[in-house]
Amino acid sequence: MSIHVNEANLTFHLQTDHTSYIFQIMKNGEAGQIYYGPRIHVQPTYQNLMSQEWRDATPSLNEENPNFQPATIKAEYASLGKGDFRQPAFQVTQANGSRITELTYDHYQLLTGKQRLANLPSTFDDTDDDTQTLVVSFNDRITGLALGLNYSIFPHQDVIVKSAKFTNPSSEKLVLNRVLSSQLDLPDANYDLIQFSGTWARERHLYRHPLRSGMQSISSLRMASSHQQNPFMMLARPQTTDEQGAVFGFNLVYSGNFLDAVEVDQYSTSRILTGINPDEFGWNLAPQATFQTPEAILSYTSAGMNQLSQQMASFYQQHLVNPRFAHEERPVLINNWEATYFDFNEAKLMTIVNQAKRLGIEMFVLDDGWFGHRDDDTTSLGDWFVDQRKFPDGIEHFSQAVHQQGMKFGLWFEPEMISVDSDLYQQHPDWLIHAPKSTPTPGRHQFVLDMARPEVVDYLFKLMSQMIESANLDYIKWDMNRYATEMFSSRLTSDQQLELPHRYILGVYQLYVRLTQAYPNVLFESCASGGGRFDLGMMYYAPQAWTSDDTDAAERLLIQFGTSYGYPQAMMGAHVSAVPNDQMGRITSLKTRGAVAFFGDLGYELDITKMAPTELDQVKKQVAFYKRYRQLFQFGKFYRIDSPFVGDGNVTSWQVVSDDQKQAIAARYQLLNHPNAPYTRFYFKGLRPNQRYQINDDPSTYYGDELMNAGYFVPTILADGQASKDFYAQLFVVTAI
Ligand code: DGJ
Repeated sequence: MSIHVNEANLTFHLQTDHTSYIFQIMKNGEAGQIYYGPRIHVQPTYQNLMSQEWRDATPSLNEENPNFQPATIKAEYASLGKGDFRQPAFQVTQANGSRITELTYDHYQLLTGKQRLANLPSTFDDTDDDTQTLVVSFNDRITGLALGLNYSIFPHQDVIVKSAKFTNPSSEKLVLNRVLSSQLDLPDANYDLIQFSGTWARERHLYRHPLRSGMQSISSLRMASSHQQNPFMMLARPQTTDEQGAVFGFNLVYSGNFLDAVEVDQYSTSRILTGINPDEFGWNLAPQATFQTPEAILSYTSAGMNQLSQQMASFYQQHLVNPRFAHEERPVLINNWEATYFDFNEAKLMTIVNQAKRLGIEMFVLDDGWFGHRDDDTTSLGDWFVDQRKFPDGIEHFSQAVHQQGMKFGLWFEPEMISVDSDLYQQHPDWLIHAPKSTPTPGRHQFVLDMARPEVVDYLFKLMSQMIESANLDYIKWDMNRYATEMFSSRLTSDQQLELPHRYILGVYQLYVRLTQAYPNVLFESCASGGGRFDLGMMYYAPQAWTSDDTDAAERLLIQFGTSYGYPQAMMGAHVSAVPNDQMGRITSLKTRGAVAFFGDLGYELDITKMAPTELDQVKKQVAFYKRYRQLFQFGKFYRIDSPFVGDGNVTSWQVVSDDQKQAIAARYQLLNHPNAPYTRFYFKGLRPNQRYQINDDPSTYYGDELMNAGYFVPTILADGQASKDFYAQLFVVTAI
């Protein structure tokens, strides 16, 4: 039993294996937050945890209850305008312009399991994993608006999933101005906010700052979760590290405009709000209509950030990723983008395919440029017909040739976009998102389709289906290379315009739903100029995502290390590309490039027909090595060891460990080599203390406790006067004997 309800005082105690989340219906009829943290006993009351004191100069509920002051309590889902002056969780405008609501508790419902949401990506429990769902319902005394707060408890991964659902039973239209997915009020503010921020080619770098008084937030208004800010954030005690300490994780199953906000108030309590960004949002809730928010993920551990990442990764694999692919090993691919860019034809690609086959690569992915008359990035988006100049016998012919090699075949699309130089634009110029009288703002010479129009989704479904069927596709890379501007839809009424950002992303999800249902065996990889939409909403449909356009091995250490806090390595597309690297001009060895890309879904993205025989031999060995340990690389428990975000960042290391702890692979990467360097020991993680292990071809054996506590001596990397030893990678394959 994960959910304990005290009927007498309407207290709800939600327990996971290691955490407790408690709230109670308060005097004003709303829910008050009591506790979230390490698991505690179920008690009849939790007076000690309520932490409310009367304070001067503060409004109270009414004359009869002078001590009940909304500004001094921890609320569960607060409104604005009744004396709680912090940022609210929701706000609704009535026909008369009033935004004041008075929610009062109505009833609760306990359900076994967790159902998927209807039109949004969501968590689920298909496996009878002891999941329970609690719905607590409220009515607004003024408008009749009904609110259901949903809590699903996934006990074994220590995850709580929250969302809110609004229903308008009245005969009047209501406007939802703000509908966040989760509010959490914590009793103090002694936390560091850890966020993952960046930009194109520099996604999800870690930033850590102590909370300060007032509002602090991470958000997007780009109609995508964005390269700039990721919806995943953590609140950790100042002393918390990857290895130990208290930490909360927050994420959203959503890919559009989002807000993660923390408000520290005058009593040093913290309010954490996550959900759809209230800016550029407004939703008309017609009589009898409902609005369901995206789901918020909350997770807690007292055992450090590695533990938090691991429990969330396990949760996503079991309860979010499409079960068809969640446990399936992902193919090693070759992608032609950095090998050819737009300059290819079938004959040229076949030389790459044939070479890839010899190297053991399992899938060929044809990237941008196969359709319309697209020889550069100025044309043809929307014309999802094969370019006969490049494929005179059709894509079917090429696909058959790839399949005949025993390889899978994947194709790139950028469904949400349109080029002005396209047949689609000639036919439907109005399908482009643009505002009346305003000049459309180009981005990469392209514009955004109005995905809120069902006819746009129908068109894309039809054309993509034709390609999937005719080319017998095994995989689709779904790209999205610019953010939306001039947010206006001529399909919507004037009072619906603020619905467009959310309707847009619902249209994207709708297309994903239709394609994944019609073609359940097609593996999707999401992409947005690299990692511009790397989020849990995408993960639900596309089990893997292109992590970043930056394929430089040294930059990837920062990107993959940062990403690993919130997302499992099976989600991270990681490719070996050519040197000098296209984004950085940096030269790193093939060994190092491979050793970085191994810790994700391995691919190659370079012209393998131009490599020297010795390099080809090395690639062949890399592919064989990766396949041998693929289960471990993609699904093993991931441990961060040395952070590139700490100190001078010269050393990064991480490790994957099998569930049975019999096999592990660790990697240590050093950016610059130093002369006469200090001694180094490598401290492994997650091994069995009493198990003996062997490392690489070292004939000695070592107990796990020795390797974890005393470390393994790593000899100095000596310059041999020939090749640079900068950007140097070492792999340690650890095998139980
Ligand atoms: C951006 C992606 O991130 C790249 O991998 C590539 O697919 C290009 N778009 C193609 O235009």
